[in-house]
Amino acid sequence: MSDGSVDFRHEARAKAYATPLEELNPAQADLFAADAMWPIFERLRAEAPVHHTAESDYGPFWSVTRYHDIMAIDTNHQVFSSADGITLQSLESKLEMTRRPNRTSFISMDPPRHDEQRKTVSPVVAPANLERMAPVIRERAGLILDSLPIGEAFDWVDLVSKELTAMTLATLFDFPFEERRRLTHWSDMMTNAPGFGPVKSWDHKRQEIAECHAVFRELWAERAAQPPKSDLVSMLAHGAATKDMDVEEYHGNVGLLIIGGNDTTRNTISGSVYALNRHPAQYAKLRENPALIPSMVSETIRWQTPLSHMRRTATQDFEFGGETIRKDDLVVMWYVSGNRDDAVIADPDNYVIDRARPRTHLSFGFGVHRCVGNRLAELQLTIIWEEILKRFPVIELAGEPTRTHSIFVHGYEALPVVIPRRN
Ligand code: HEM
Repeated sequence: MSDGSVDFRHEARAKAYATPLEELNPAQADLFAADAMWPIFERLRAEAPVHHTAESDYGPFWSVTRYHDIMAIDTNHQVFSSADGITLQSLESKLEMTRRPNRTSFISMDPPRHDEQRKTVSPVVAPANLERMAPVIRERAGLILDSLPIGEAFDWVDLVSKELTAMTLATLFDFPFEERRRLTHWSDMMTNAPGFGPVKSWDHKRQEIAECHAVFRELWAERAAQPPKSDLVSMLAHGAATKDMDVEEYHGNVGLLIIGGNDTTRNTISGSVYALNRHPAQYAKLRENPALIPSMVSETIRWQTPLSHMRRTATQDFEFGGETIRKDDLVVMWYVSGNRDDAVIADPDNYVIDRARPRTHLSFGFGVHRCVGNRLAELQLTIIWEEILKRFPVIELAGEPTRTHSIFVHGYEALPVVIPRRN
């Protein structure tokens, strides 16, 4: 199959190795959209694993690109704080943030405040709740798959990945089910910059997010007036650590839960179809042995790395990897690079669904912020593949994916596929 971005990728490799080391800048959304950022990370891991970029669209920042270094930063929240934000923000987006109320969520907090709020919502993904949700997810996955066209091309992202994750998220929030795709839409409004995804302008983004917040304020009022239930809004409205939080903090947490539960899992579902097609021997192995589904799921989460990075801010001067990181410097943990570190993962560019230790990856982070929803994500992926293998001998790519234009969300806007026949 021809790949429209091959030339760009080739040029990107030549450029990554011709650029003076101190000028290397991995924070380029164009490179991520063309899947052409890998050579920069390869070179940084080998030659400058703790590297400073002085100028970029996101201002100056440090890049940490090796597996163990990323773990060391992620587990040291005393020195590497989340309180000043957890992603690199473009200068334009920083300006936008100064125009709106200060909105935070527990992913952008340090202990102890972080821990109290996290504890409030984590029961929603506790094993007992997941067990209750599994048959519901399975039934819905089946309905989605049974409704797909056979023998004609369609967009897997739209009809499957978005649909399944929207249904699950609606259940977590106890959000009106028939309006579930509004959650997907709001997630896209929150993560995209103007000109990308559904976002036309900053004004447009502001308006749609305000609408999302208004809907969620109504839900809060409704749930606060009822006895406590097991959905996320009710948990926040009744939780000791969250019931008195100010409205902007509620908005922030709603945003976190919408994005956290949505984009990441969606892009892994799409990534699994893409990866298995790019590695047909692995796909054949999976069909022959469906018991490999759980390890295929973990391998996809590593290979895809649905969130490319998390960012921290240094609370003090700190010697790390032979460099001096100064107080207030921004430090980016490039999970997408750590997951390709061959010092820890053998043949890391390859997609191998039966690795000995498939959960050895950085995609969920480490330390106090380690992903709360990781088991729920794995559950959705496992169920959808169990149901796919029961129904379809193969899902084939019908073209190249359109990739997300982002240095944070590492995923797919569209993935054309065709299902030639049912089992
Ligand atoms: C494959 C799917 C997923 C990936 C790759 C992923 C990735 C991540 C990462 C990298 C972090 C930050 C870790 C750190 O800073 O150390 C995180 C945090 C978080 N994730 Fe996920 N996530 C996924 C699915 C989900 C789902 C389904 C939910 C919904 C319940 C969710 C909710 C959250 C929340 C609430 C946090 C903040 C945790 C905290 O700050 O303590 N995630 N996730």
